[in-house]
Amino acid sequence: MARTKIAIYPGSFDPITNGHVDLVKRTLGVFDRLIVAIARNPDKDNSLFTLEERLEMIREVFKGLGNRVKADSFDGLLVKYAKRIGAKVIIRGLRAVSDFEYEFQMAMMNRELEPGLETLFMMTGQSHFYLSSRLVKEVVSLGGDVSGLVPRVVLKKLREKFD
Ligand code: PNS
Repeated sequence: MARTKIAIYPGSFDPITNGHVDLVKRTLGVFDRLIVAIARNPDKDNSLFTLEERLEMIREVFKGLGNRVKADSFDGLLVKYAKRIGAKVIIRGLRAVSDFEYEFQMAMMNRELEPGLETLFMMTGQSHFYLSSRLVKEVVSLGGDVSGLVPRVVLKKLREKFD
């Protein structure tokens, strides 16, 4: 029987945006299952949303996809988490060239730590080139409209935070 191809999409997802959603859907064209994994970092955590809130939003957004997409969180090194759950591939999105340096460093470090684990980069959809969770939060905090940039459940949660 063919092996199920599982990939991990790690990140902060604070909160998940339409850019992430687009990337998840395109990744499912290549992999059978995707684990959207939030890195827990209690030491330097200045997240707007709690870990539970972020997981809940991800679950809500992908509930129509059944068990093909799972939301999870992990402590410590990504490579150790990947090994634990038996995933061989990390998915990361690339937007502009400015992402490259940071992504390249992480991919190289992860390869050094765990040579059997590959990082695959997906190009962000054209309409999400400028989109980031950081900017979304800033715009909402200043009263701007991000309704086309995040899923509906996230928009609602953002409004609750800043009202
Ligand atoms: O969405 P982000 O903040 O760009 O995601 C960064 C993330 C979570 C992928 C990265 O910080 C990470 O992998 N953290 C887990 C700890 C770890 O493995 N650090 C070494 C990375 S080379």
